[in-house]
Amino acid sequence: MKILGTGSALPERVVTNDELSTFLDTSDAWITTRTGIKKRHVISNEQIDDLAVLSARRALEDAGVDVSEIDYFICSNVVTEHVTPGLSCIISWKLGLHCPCIDINCACPGFIFALDIAENRYRAGMAKKILIVCAEETTRMCDWNDRSTCVLFGDGTAAVVLGEGDNIKGIRLDCQPDPHKIWLERTLLPTPYITKEEVNGALEMRGREVFRFAVNASTTEVDSLLKELGISKNQVSYYLVHQANLRIIDAIKEYLHEPDEKFPTNIYDHGNSSSASCPILLDECNRKGLFKPGDILVFSAFGAGLLSAVAVLEW
Ligand code: UT7
Repeated sequence: MKILGTGSALPERVVTNDELSTFLDTSDAWITTRTGIKKRHVISNEQIDDLAVLSARRALEDAGVDVSEIDYFICSNVVTEHVTPGLSCIISWKLGLHCPCIDINCACPGFIFALDIAENRYRAGMAKKILIVCAEETTRMCDWNDRSTCVLFGDGTAAVVLGEGDNIKGIRLDCQPDPHKIWLERTLLPTPYITKEEVNGALEMRGREVFRFAVNASTTEVDSLLKELGISKNQVSYYLVHQANLRIIDAIKEYLHEPDEKFPTNIYDHGNSSSASCPILLDECNRKGLFKPGDILVFSAFGAGLLSAVAVLEW
């Protein structure tokens, strides 16, 4: 497939590190030096599905594609208020889509997992124009008294419209199953039969272990996918890496021996917006006119699961 258009939409409320330090034992200096984050968009009274619809409309407009042309829709989301129907159905209803839709929860690499589904459905001849929306309200997963997690996250939505083309050069998906590195458990409603102890928790993370996993998975997978595709690093124009921590991105850059200018970042403005992170960055770069036709873009993302994924695309 080929990316025909991109869009994004963010919550209005922006929370700075200084604002966080008014109620948390933290500081702008700690957050900036450890993560590169200065501020984040935080959902307040908006609905995440309204923002998702807005980013989809922007992507459709950028692509010059009418909503009626979309014949498959994939929504990537970790948590939302609706248990059922899936967020994809709610977005479809508000957007006026009339095609099959699915939800995936592949945490931070969700955008690349969605690209993989889109590409395979297209290759099977089952869809021609596919919409992907990544919609995340990660700040609703955090305990806002826990300085080790809530300072890291931000909310946002982003979309891409894909159409006919052979611009997706390769995708590599991986999983090193370990549900105890980044996790959030919640209780379901009680029944007369449940006597086991259940936890209604907030997001927890073994930060240092996740950091090591992220750098290792990203560098290994980027190297191996590029090799498999016969594309040299010299041919890569930009790496769009999941915006979880600037120090992770710096370490990846160093291991790959690639220069700063190939790694656009926006983490200082957004924090970690899970699967929306890569497509928000993509949309911002696209709207700034950073990419020219023929540019090779490498996406790399990693997160809960532990899942990771890399995609190589020609712009
Ligand atoms: O989407 C993918 C998921 N997430 C990631 O990729 C995150 C991966 N991990 C990381 O980015 C880093 O490990 C963190 C940013 C989460 C933490 O950085 P760190 O350098 O690994 O710090 P640490 O957890 O080892 O904590 C160092 C100290 C601790 O104090 P003590 O025990 O040394 O006294 C923490 O309590 O920093 C303290 N600390 C804070 N201090 C001020 C933790 N959070 C904060 C905070 N403000 N917000």
